[in-house]
Amino acid sequence: MKITRMKTLRILQCLFAALLFFTDSVTADVKTRGAAIATVDPIATDAAVQALKDGGNAFDASVAAALTLGVVNGYNSGIGGGCFIVGRKANGKLFTINGRETAPEKAHRDMFIRDGRAQTKLSQAGALAIAVPGSLMAYSELCKKHGELSFKKHLTNASVIARNGFKVPDSFAQRVKGNFKQIQNYPATAKIFSDNDGEPIKAGSTLIQKDLAETYNEIAQHGTDWFYHGPFAKKTEEWMKKNGGIMKISDFEKYQVTYPNPVQTTYREFTVVGMPPPSSGGTHVAQILNILEHFEIKNIDSNTPEFYHLITEAMKLAFADRAHWLGDPSFTKVPLGLVSKKYAKRLAKRINPKKAGKVKTHGIPQGSTEHFFNKHTTHLSCSDNEGNWVAITATINTSFGSKVIIPGTGVIMNNEMDDFSISPGTPNAFGLIGNEANAVAPGKRPLSSMSPTIVLKDNKPILSVGAAGGPTIISQTLLTLIHTLDHKLSIREALMKPRFHHQWQPNQIRIESTAGQRVLDSLKQMGHKIYIGGYGGATQAIGNLGNGLEAEHDPRLTGKAIAFPIKK
Ligand code: GLY
Repeated sequence: MKITRMKTLRILQCLFAALLFFTDSVTADVKTRGAAIATVDPIATDAAVQALKDGGNAFDASVAAALTLGVVNGYNSGIGGGCFIVGRKANGKLFTINGRETAPEKAHRDMFIRDGRAQTKLSQAGALAIAVPGSLMAYSELCKKHGELSFKKHLTNASVIARNGFKVPDSFAQRVKGNFKQIQNYPATAKIFSDNDGEPIKAGSTLIQKDLAETYNEIAQHGTDWFYHGPFAKKTEEWMKKNGGIMKISDFEKYQVTYPNPVQTTYREFTVVGMPPPSSGGTHVAQILNILEHFEIKNIDSNTPEFYHLITEAMKLAFADRAHWLGDPSFTKVPLGLVSKKYAKRLAKRINPKKAGKVKTHGIPQGSTEHFFNKHTTHLSCSDNEGNWVAITATINTSFGSKVIIPGTGVIMNNEMDDFSISPGTPNAFGLIGNEANAVAPGKRPLSSMSPTIVLKDNKPILSVGAAGGPTIISQTLLTLIHTLDHKLSIREALMKPRFHHQWQPNQIRIESTAGQRVLDSLKQMGHKIYIGGYGGATQAIGNLGNGLEAEHDPRLTGKAIAFPIKK
């Protein structure tokens, strides 16, 4: 048989293509094998997987997912907001990045008081609600310091999704509808989230965000300076001037992320690693676990009233401390004693196993005058085959944040100023009250409940978890730890368990009805006030708890989680 030159060329081309395909799948397989990712959106999870296939590690995957969430789930998080990152590198090094927003220089303690009364309307929407965003710098730092791909690549990929558009999921359409009245106060926001008839965009329609795509592209081309030192800051200042705001270019120029040491505590044979203040999450998850160590929780059936009662009592004590002591450690003295075993023992003694206790006020931990911490949200967790693990919780605060999009940018700005205590005793959007420690001050970061957490056993990461949902983040994270570490449930089983939450004030347990009538009746008999509420938020987690790698998004909501098998 005669083979022509043309045929030979074609065969060679096919062989070359096959080789490329094979090499590509091998690289992809090597990179994804043993990796796990959980986010609230399939497109974001797919972006993370693609980053691994492109040769990135878990930190790249998490940055790809986080930037994509800002496009496809922008009502929860994005570069107009802030985040906390807890990471564990393959070499065992632990780190955090604090990308929480800061109050502008012109902010002051009484900025939300009008005629002697605190106005939550002002702290929850519009120009004054906005704090200087930190997520973009945090993601960029995570990528530069710990990733293997360029930040530019991640931004460019996410900008393509913004430009091409995506099908609006039901959950997204519902959020737009639920917030539409307020969104309509801000024309640039309303334009993006309305259809041609001026109605809220519908599920199944395609949402194209050209301005956001352009913003991502500009940052990809010019670096984060475009945002913090250039056109974005300038546009924001101009808009602020016309709309009663106080944020200036200099606020952006001063913004810096910080790298505080993680809060670490032991819980039985585990080490729990979390975010220090201005997150209250790491501190209070640790504090509650320290208290619960005195009750052998692992031997208490999680379907019994006793289980709910003990954990609720511990939450109550911790949240009373939160309201008094917690704030930005650069401005207020947050006692290290809050996470000490000795203090937890004292608090544990205050718990009556049969009766709801009265917690009038906060406790006084050891060293409270000497030893201090140094100076609607989404959660995602990622790991890779090399042993890099990361937990990122990011937020613009409540749905659609301040509702403001600075015209021409596509970026939804946060309303994180509401996480400050705008006046003592005035509840914020989550019903949380606070004190002087969390009062507004220029350059200060508002207190947060975000609790990205990594658990180690014998120095190896076994769980990365966190949640969305304001203060219930702390309880959701805590319950996942207890159900998996104490009761040996799989992550999925743990996330399915009924949720409950007590934040000291209001004095009530917010609980899912799935806890069952018997538990609810018993808790009432013990003296608890019960509020049967929804699920409160969304937990995502990945783990290697002894039965292979797991990845789960909250089963109550949409999301996507993948665990690639570990090489045998
Ligand atoms: N914005 C909610 C939180 O950080 O706790």
